[in-house]
Amino acid sequence: MIEIRKESRLEQYTSVTELSVNDAQLLEKAKQALQGSYAPYSKFNVGCALLLANGKTITGSNQENIAYPSGLCAERVAVFYAGSQFPNVPIIAMAITAHAKTFTIEQPVMSCGACLQSISEYERRQGEPIRVILQGETGPIYIANGLHHFMPFMFWQQELHS
Ligand code: THU
Repeated sequence: MIEIRKESRLEQYTSVTELSVNDAQLLEKAKQALQGSYAPYSKFNVGCALLLANGKTITGSNQENIAYPSGLCAERVAVFYAGSQFPNVPIIAMAITAHAKTFTIEQPVMSCGACLQSISEYERRQGEPIRVILQGETGPIYIANGLHHFMPFMFWQQELHS
């Protein structure tokens, strides 16, 4: 038996003023994207902003539906849009934030497993890590250099890509 270990690393910052201009701007765009959220059922708004290698910023927000599983998370709204409009343009960075109607979100909100799986495939395709910037409404900012820090063992079928 051998043990397989993978390390996850997150940087934590206490204020937006500690971030680079690019990271701070992307986080601000994620906050603006909250305005497009349609979340009448969960009352939990999520905003996402992507910086693409061509300099464009793409934003997305969660879109819910009365048939609950039919909705989609903010991250996948943004990444699928980027993938369809700019198929071969790498995603450099992704900022995510959230707002809840009934309480203040004081911690960064991590992407769900389905988003991590979906976006990890784009990361694998482009061969470069996607920088992930997370903040709640207040509180610390987490930054990770790649989605593998959140999902070290993604689902993958080698034979489909050989
Ligand atoms: N949500 C996201 O937009 N991103 C995630 O990574 C997790 C959850 C959305 C889905 C739903 O509209 C609301 O947050 C509450 O789960």
